[in-house]
Amino acid sequence: MMSRILVLYGTTEGQTAKIARAMAVQLRSSLIEVDLVRAGAGDPKPAGYDGIIVAGSLHAGGYQEPVVKWLRAHAAELEPRPTAFVSVCLAVLSKQAPARDEARAIPKRFVDRLGWSPTVIKVVAGALPYTKYNFFIRWVMRRIAAAAGGDTDTSRDYEYTDWRDLRDFVDRFAGLVTVRRELAS
Ligand SMILES: Cc1cc2nc3c(=O)[nH]c(=O)nc-3n(C[C@H](O)[C@H](O)[C@H](O)COP(=O)(O)O)c2cc1C
Repeated sequence: MMSRILVLYGTTEGQTAKIARAMAVQLRSSLIEVDLVRAGAGDPKPAGYDGIIVAGSLHAGGYQEPVVKWLRAHAAELEPRPTAFVSVCLAVLSKQAPARDEARAIPKRFVDRLGWSPTVIKVVAGALPYTKYNFFIRWVMRRIAAAAGGDTDTSRDYEYTDWRDLRDFVDRFAGLVTVRRELAS
């Protein structure tokens, strides 16, 4: 029997969707069965999965509402299996250490409040798709990027996701799921 992993994600501008798809493709190539679900588009139940990865991106310090809703409904059922929370953000790239520390503290506080102890919390750098933003968001994001010592050319998009690091994380997570299944069988 193949292992089954749920990858549930929330996205606003699309980078977390891309990250979630990449994780799903990689897991499937390791012969793991994957359900890739956008939060809000379905209400998958944790039972029946050998591992669960939940991913969301930070906007003004919070995650997508459908992700929060799904976790509130199911946090108590997550624990017996390996689980991971993937927090996609930009602050982790800041030249200022307190901002980077906060980028790591936010997901920890988030899962603590839910009463969920994921096996892994993975902070992933997202993207700055200036050309996809409306005028106001572009202006705000440029100011934030400038203050953080980041990229400010609004005529182009920037992608910061470290795909190799993400692949290592997915490999490790798949390993946890496989080991747990073998121990249980
Ligand atoms: C309006 C807005 C607010 C954001 N707020 C934060 C934030 O509070 N902290 C952070 O680290 N990144 C923040 N970001 C950066 C996003 O997390 C980053 O662009 C991420 O790649 C978005 O993922 P998505 O495309 O899946 O929505 C913000 C981006 C936008 C457009």
